Amino acid sequence: MMKKINSEISGFYKLSIEERQKVIAQISELNSDELKLLSNLGYFTSSQMDTLIENVIGSYQLPMGIACNFKINNKDYLIPMVIEEPSVVAAASNLAKIARKHGGFFSEKVKSIMFSQIQITQLDDLDAAKEILLRKKEKLLAIANEQDPVLKKLGGGAFDIEFRELTTSRGKMLILHLLVNVLDAMGANVVNTMAEAISPLIEESCGGKIFLRIVSNLAEHRIAKSKATFDKELLGGEEAVEGILNAYEFALADPYRAATHNKGIMNGVIALTLATGNDTRAIEAGAHAYASLSGKYMPLTKFRVDSNGNLVGEIEIPLALGIIGGMTKIHPLARLALKVLNIESAEELSQVAAALGLAQNVAALRALVTEGIQKGHMALHSRNIAKIAGVPDELIDKVAKILVEDNIIRVDHAKKILNKILKGV
Ligand code: MEV
Repeated sequence: MMKKINSEISGFYKLSIEERQKVIAQISELNSDELKLLSNLGYFTSSQMDTLIENVIGSYQLPMGIACNFKINNKDYLIPMVIEEPSVVAAASNLAKIARKHGGFFSEKVKSIMFSQIQITQLDDLDAAKEILLRKKEKLLAIANEQDPVLKKLGGGAFDIEFRELTTSRGKMLILHLLVNVLDAMGANVVNTMAEAISPLIEESCGGKIFLRIVSNLAEHRIAKSKATFDKELLGGEEAVEGILNAYEFALADPYRAATHNKGIMNGVIALTLATGNDTRAIEAGAHAYASLSGKYMPLTKFRVDSNGNLVGEIEIPLALGIIGGMTKIHPLARLALKVLNIESAEELSQVAAALGLAQNVAALRALVTEGIQKGHMALHSRNIAKIAGVPDELIDKVAKILVEDNIIRVDHAKKILNKILKGV
């Protein structure tokens, strides 16, 4: 029978990490090895861990790999990726190599513009309110910029307002967008602070009632675009190109496929987002909302063939990525990742992420329309399966190889192979 636990632990947040570990170990009956795992915080100090989130009991690790071969805007990059899925890093490196034949990736400039939304309700006349607020625009921008004088001094800051009118079952609402150039930050914090600071003057000026004052993760003023030409022969010939064009049409016509198509893109984008200590949820939310802006969920990439029969791919994706603030500076491996990337700005990071997303997408489509995704995936996965089956380290490669040869990548089969090896049969 499943044991019952009581999840109400009074004052849990007040305990030290060690004390919390002991409490959880007791409730969840963790053994001494498990407790030891928890106490290994890796490269973090306990005070760093304890200030990042609440109720910390441990540090969770994932592999960091490097995608090679990337040339973006004529500069070479080594791209750190944090991801648990086999094949992804190899696939990106592979496609980046193919892209080099025609110059690599070309990513457009993207300004780091974020905006917060201020929800003004209980207005009698939306047009009159807009007029008043437009007259107050300079004052509103000045108050916003007082919140971050350094940003303003560096050439960023709040610079414009825009409106949206919404009709809802709770009446009409006027939504004010405060546009801010956040330079090298992800920007949520700064735009939220500014939105809160200007709200009293908005209420005072137009008489409405403000509820929400928060960043929009649909960062439509921060769209990263990248493009590359993938050589027909290197992709696997005309049939591979044909297959990818058909896969693209499938995604255009069918949101069920578009979701998986975009998942392939996010394999790359999120792995880099995580490696650099950025907010993966913000990037996911923005990407998928952007994919549905037309009213239908669409693929984030586009494909066509050029006059030589080569595949031309393009990606368009909102990317609110920063290189300062948040985890980017606190997390030692995020700092290291940024150093390996050798980039100078948040804009450059977005340019790299867009190229990586495109490479990842083409890699997945190419595998899907040629040998299928499982062969490569399972070859790598076979090592994990061998490990799960309890195969000792020195025999993992041997067992993994047999799993692939037998084309049965399952734990029970790995155990059978191990038994045979141990018995010498
Ligand atoms: C798996 O992580 C990603 C793919 O499903 C993407 C796709 O289907 O395009 C292979």
